[in-house]
Amino acid sequence: EPEVIRDKTAMRRWSRSYRSKGKTLAFVPTMGFLHEGHLALVRAAGALADLTVVSIYVNPGQFAPSEDLDAYPADLRGDLHKLADLGVHAVFCPTNLYDYGEGGGRGDVQARRTEGAIGSSGSPVSCLEAAAGDGSGHETWVRVEKLERGLCGMSRPVFFRGVATIVAKLFNIVEPDIAVFGKKDYQQWRIICRMVRDLDFAVKIIGSEIVRESDGLAMSSRNVRLSPEEREKALSIYNSLSKAKYAALHEQSTCQELRSLVIQLVTEAGGRIDYVEIVEQESLIPVEEINSPAVICIAAWFGAVRLIDNMEINP
Ligand code: PAJ
Repeated sequence: EPEVIRDKTAMRRWSRSYRSKGKTLAFVPTMGFLHEGHLALVRAAGALADLTVVSIYVNPGQFAPSEDLDAYPADLRGDLHKLADLGVHAVFCPTNLYDYGEGGGRGDVQARRTEGAIGSSGSPVSCLEAAAGDGSGHETWVRVEKLERGLCGMSRPVFFRGVATIVAKLFNIVEPDIAVFGKKDYQQWRIICRMVRDLDFAVKIIGSEIVRESDGLAMSSRNVRLSPEEREKALSIYNSLSKAKYAALHEQSTCQELRSLVIQLVTEAGGRIDYVEIVEQESLIPVEEINSPAVICIAAWFGAVRLIDNMEINP
């Protein structure tokens, strides 16, 4: 049975007690409602260090007030069962990581859905700031300025700021040697790598391959919100990425042609495209032709559910 830790001081104490004995620690941050995609990261972590810590925390700082924070699925009991089966040593599930107690700002910041995503200063705000009203609870943010701008950053302007900040906080609390992230969230993984490098975090970041359902749909906590029809249509994402990858490797198609192919196939299936981009793997800068490692990234809506996926193309 993993130790369930809710308090950040207790978490840091736990971590330090083992690290002082020379144990190495691998960490997998999640927002819970765990599926095989998450569990693959946990297994990878288990093979890389003596002890594995998983965090479960739905971070209000990375959702805009218009987004699906309230609808985010949760199943803590189920999650703890799955993690026990994998031999995880500790599960960190704090209730509020933005509660700094006495004198540290508002202790009652409760994330909730609020209308309007623009703050009084005219800048986009997260659910965290919206709930605090004036955002007084927390004002320090980690921004990875170039990498956060494109792809998902276009339609979700506060998202990566929120992710980088919460991951920095979690690294400071858990103090892991290694942390594992999924390539399903490709831009997130690259942003965390860059943050760790730029800010000299003493943690090694591992990128883990995308886990898919047997028909190819990338596993996601949001998949449960697809109707059976939408679930069927959403397969067009994987199918079109596969076709584009084949065309890139065997038919010398231009990136413009590859993007058009994916957009056409997903749109025909009833998906609403947010973006389809072909970018360089590390810098995430768009490319015209694929003659070095690239990745084709997509975000598309099926009904009320926004799905993302990607495929690396190594010529
Ligand atoms: P969450 O969406 O719960 O994902 C936790 C981790 O699981 C991320 O590293 C994500 O890339 C990985 N993951 C999810 N589905 C996957 C799949 N099908 N295959 C491989 N890996 C997959 O990502 C977050 O939470 C949050 O932004 C977080 C990093 C925890 C910060 O709040």
